[in-house]
Amino acid sequence: MCGIVGAVSQRDVPAILLEGLRRLEYRGYDSAGMAILGDDGSLQREREVGKVQALAQALEKSDPHGVVGIAHTRWATHGVPSQVNAHPHMSGERLAIVHNGIIENYQSLRERLKDEGFEFSSQTDTEVVAHLIESCFRQSGDLLSAVKAAVAELHGAFALAVMHADDPDRIVVTRRGSPLVVGVGIGENFIASDQLALLPVTDRFMFLEEGDIAEIRRDTVRIWDADEQVAERPVSRFEHAIDSADKGEYRHFMLKEIHEQPRVIQATMEGRLTDSRVLEQSLGTEAGSLLAGIRHVQIIACGTSYHAGMVARYWIEELAGIPCSVEVASEYRYRHHVVQPDTLFLTISQSGETADTLAALRQAKEAGFRAALAVCNVPGSSLVRESDLVIMTQAGPEIGVASTKAFTTQLTALLIFTLALARHNGLDSEKEADIVRALREVPRQVDQVLSLDGRIESLSRAFMDKSHSLFLGRGAMFPVALEGALKLKEISYIHAEAYPAGELKHGPLALVDSEMPVVTVAPNNALMEKLKSNLEEVRARGGELFVFADGQSGLHEEDHVHVMSIPEVHPITAPIVYTVPLQLLSYHVAVLKGTDVDQPRNLAKSVTVE
Ligand code: G6P
Repeated sequence: MCGIVGAVSQRDVPAILLEGLRRLEYRGYDSAGMAILGDDGSLQREREVGKVQALAQALEKSDPHGVVGIAHTRWATHGVPSQVNAHPHMSGERLAIVHNGIIENYQSLRERLKDEGFEFSSQTDTEVVAHLIESCFRQSGDLLSAVKAAVAELHGAFALAVMHADDPDRIVVTRRGSPLVVGVGIGENFIASDQLALLPVTDRFMFLEEGDIAEIRRDTVRIWDADEQVAERPVSRFEHAIDSADKGEYRHFMLKEIHEQPRVIQATMEGRLTDSRVLEQSLGTEAGSLLAGIRHVQIIACGTSYHAGMVARYWIEELAGIPCSVEVASEYRYRHHVVQPDTLFLTISQSGETADTLAALRQAKEAGFRAALAVCNVPGSSLVRESDLVIMTQAGPEIGVASTKAFTTQLTALLIFTLALARHNGLDSEKEADIVRALREVPRQVDQVLSLDGRIESLSRAFMDKSHSLFLGRGAMFPVALEGALKLKEISYIHAEAYPAGELKHGPLALVDSEMPVVTVAPNNALMEKLKSNLEEVRARGGELFVFADGQSGLHEEDHVHVMSIPEVHPITAPIVYTVPLQLLSYHVAVLKGTDVDQPRNLAKSVTVE
């Protein structure tokens, strides 16, 4: 959601913080700011509306210097994007704070602090926390105990970093419900909401746990847990070999990440497959005992990850013969549900920090599920730490807000998981070998699809001046159509809806005319003949059809029918391969329309608040 970065060093920190913000910009980008403790002992603050670049320009002019500082890039929750609402917030001239998350009881605290004489200059919940800590600081003169006392009064989910000019050698941080990591340096230490922000300065990290409060000094990091006991958090090294916060030769992160897919899908399979089998042990030493006896799977996720879950349902029911339910986390967590015996609770998340998914997992742990499995891309994330079993996708950091490689690696991991589960439920070894071989072909097939880029770019021109579009698919290709529509609406702002093709005549057909492009993903599977009649229904209404199909489909280029030929793929792995041309289509439409591809308006990469 928002991004936090901070440093306590012996060298000048503004440039370090600014680079950290650039790397976090994908999390939120409506304003950015920085507070530096200057050599003269005063706090200097700079805040700008807009992207981090606007802040960089302001800093060029003000040229602050100092060895302790905090910075923030914001995605507005309380209060519009504006300079007064941008972080850091201050209480008086001596205390500065940056905050991710939401303080639920900020209104009542605000009234109380007003009565104490504090004046408010913003509409944010964060400014309330600044004054609350200052109020406690006035009693103790000690920033650490002031933060401890203030946090005890807060309701909600947050990560905070606080500095005080009268307690100048440390930053005090705390987390409850929002991620925060400490970057360990030599003679300097850092904090950030995502380790990516700190890769230029360190590769050693300590992940704070729920309720932790930490004091960051140049030479020491001290941590107390939620019960105020001194705590040790292990130091781990950053694992991803490549620093993905760099666009390289590509114009956008999204395009770079689309092109990374053959490699990261391969990486997600590595060590988990032989030529003909899934290595169950590679999913964790406990995997065998956890999967045996599972009679039902409940999948929970949000956004693109939810679409991955929808595909997995087709696989789980077809290959493992086990009933599977899929639901978005924000709905699931607020309704009564019945937990069937021996149900596996499966969360899917790129970030591992999505607030609703995490909340659903925490509820599930109380609700009597057999075990909690997470498919996740970020090592050390909350979801990873709180699940019984984890299957890591190996997508590497994904920067583009519109998820691409995270989705196809999730599908890869989910298919591997399905095969392991199916083996406990009678999947014969021949069928397993057939699918493993098909999976091994996927990186090459995705590569072939990527080589269609030029043709897909030409097709994309037909969408440029359209306001609406319809995506159709049947079976496991329906969630692929949903994902294709989500991509198009996210980055090109064209209204895009996806329907199971069989539902066409129950409503959406009424919308079809020459102004409504209809996109169809149509591998040659058992549903092809039915799909063809759906396509005829569209043609007969003058609709413009864009069909992604393989050579065996018998579909040909005709007036108002554009056919893009996709390599022949196994019906089970088709959802992975067919996702890629839809990503490219959305990308090119967005580029033609001139939208902000990597940071589409109003969206954030990681939604760590409700
Ligand atoms: C946001 C992102 C999406 C993502 C969704 C779920 O909406 O913009 O790309 O699919 O959150 O995020 P997760 O990290 O849980 O997969």
